Amino acid sequence: MTLRNILIHPDPRLKKVCAPVESVSPEIGALAEDMLQTMYDAPGVGLAAPQVGVMQRLFVMDCVKSDDEAAKPMVLINPEVTWTSEEKSTHEEGCLSIPDQFAEVTRPKLVRMRWLGLDGKTHEEEFDELWATCAQHEFDHLNGKLFIDYLGVMKRQMITRKMEKLKRERARD
Ligand code: NI
Repeated sequence: MTLRNILIHPDPRLKKVCAPVESVSPEIGALAEDMLQTMYDAPGVGLAAPQVGVMQRLFVMDCVKSDDEAAKPMVLINPEVTWTSEEKSTHEEGCLSIPDQFAEVTRPKLVRMRWLGLDGKTHEEEFDELWATCAQHEFDHLNGKLFIDYLGVMKRQMITRKMEKLKRERARD
């Protein structure tokens, strides 16, 4: 298991549409394991493959909030959105590729996704609450879309400038 380096916005790889995973190989299994550990280490509740520079359609998430509850690591390969609710909800979002920046984003309250699991089988589930926000946020990453793309241009530019500054500082250290 290796912790992967998380790309920081702006990065051209975070703006690209990812390619489908061709087969659930041992390499994909190892990648998913690395991504989960990288996500827990960050810490975060979701991480998409392009965020670690792998341009393939998979993401991991675990939105269990309480320490009393068992962890629920999920790996979604080639996910598809099969249904979204008419009803919307607004939640504050952040992103491991945009550290320490948060903003409210409105999305469908419920989302249904179908994906391939590490077991090679098709799964389908309806997500609500934080799980719905996270699944949609991570799904967007696979299409080169970030949560700041939902914000006004001024707010987005302000955050992008902060991230450019952060990257310059990190490059110096
Ligand atoms: Ni993100």
